[in-house]
Amino acid sequence: LEDLLLDFKERSYSIVFRDSFLDLPKILTAQKLSSKFLIITDTNVDFYYGEQIKEFFSDNNCTLYKFVFEAGEKSKNLNTISQIYDQCIEHRLDRSSAILALGGGVVGDIAGFAASTYMRGIPFIQIPTSLLAQVDSSVGGKVGVDFKGSKNLIGAFYQPALVYMNLKCLRTLPKREYIAGLAEVIKHGIIYDMEFFSYLENNVESILSQDFDILKYLVKKNCMIKADVVQQDEKELGLRAILNFGHTIGHAIESIMDFSLLHGECVSIGMVAASYIACRKKLLSEKHFSRIVGLVHKIGLPTKIKNIDFEKVYGEMLKDKKQKRNVLKFILPVKIGKVIQTTVVTKEDIFEALEYISS
Ligand SMILES: NC(=O)c1ccc[n+]([C@@H]2O[C@H](COP(=O)([O-])OP(=O)(O)OC[C@H]3O[C@@H](n4cnc5c(N)ncnc54)[C@H](O)[C@@H]3O)[C@@H](O)[C@H]2O)c1
Ligand SMILES: [Zn+2]
Repeated sequence: LEDLLLDFKERSYSIVFRDSFLDLPKILTAQKLSSKFLIITDTNVDFYYGEQIKEFFSDNNCTLYKFVFEAGEKSKNLNTISQIYDQCIEHRLDRSSAILALGGGVVGDIAGFAASTYMRGIPFIQIPTSLLAQVDSSVGGKVGVDFKGSKNLIGAFYQPALVYMNLKCLRTLPKREYIAGLAEVIKHGIIYDMEFFSYLENNVESILSQDFDILKYLVKKNCMIKADVVQQDEKELGLRAILNFGHTIGHAIESIMDFSLLHGECVSIGMVAASYIACRKKLLSEKHFSRIVGLVHKIGLPTKIKNIDFEKVYGEMLKDKKQKRNVLKFILPVKIGKVIQTTVVTKEDIFEALEYISS
């Protein structure tokens, strides 16, 4: 697979697609980053890939330090960041060193935020290992942590120097996590690419069985869609907001469920709810609505959630940092492949949608 170049002027970088970690040290050395690296990973990813990567680096005369934290969203906080700063100081990292994020979106967001703030920013490499991280979070430069129950409240825009994807490492990813990552894949189809959405509909089985050729196409295509959006609007002043499709209600559900559901699972319920609103408002045809629900369902993602407190969900939605002055901004699909941003969604619309997804 050919590399993908992301154009952010002087901060441009490549995404490379591989089927092992073998040439990672070589690529990093070729980029003339220093030979001192701090790798940040979580307990699960370390178990599978920690040793292997260390070996590859030791063959290449690089100094590699490692910091491992407990896997899971609960670690995505300032306490972990503070521990990383301690490591940076202990190992005397400076702007000629680099931080490597080896793991899913949690690792990428944490490591990226630490890299963006330590000494006002040191180079940072994304090595995404979950599907969600490969198709979404490692592309675009958003980094950050949760704070006092608010998701991603503290953060920055900070582009990596390189994104290195080993597609084979998805094989050790738990099935539930893999499927959750597919929610963002479906999202990219709905917001941007009708043809890609049809491709997904026609290849559900091979996607679920992780057919390697299909996977290669899938990951690259997703990176291209996301790159296309974020290159046009790096700091989310406009277009980039379409990536929040499904996330307004999705994030609210994620926090009231206290993160017992995976991000992708909540996003898929959120996409169904937003599409329902669009359909009720006659912005989206019944036919496209049922195709959306149909694909989400066939992939094995939830379309419904029982026993939710509507007022609580609504309250969470208003807390979302993306909402200004209590006017809810919503991304609604008008057809598969195209969404709009609108403020016409009322509390009643939302409650109707919540009724639908909890029925
Ligand atoms: N920065 C962004 O633009 C952006 C976009 C979307 C989501 N996110 C963030 O990403 C996070 C979710 O990412 P995620 O779903 O990758 O979560 P995650 O990082 O917690 O990874 C999911 C689980 O899979 C494990 N894992 C990862 N790779 C593995 C592998 N190859 N083999 C075995 N196990 C593996 C992890 O240890 C973890 O238990 C959330 O915090 C979300 O806010 C950020
Ligand atoms: Zn998401």
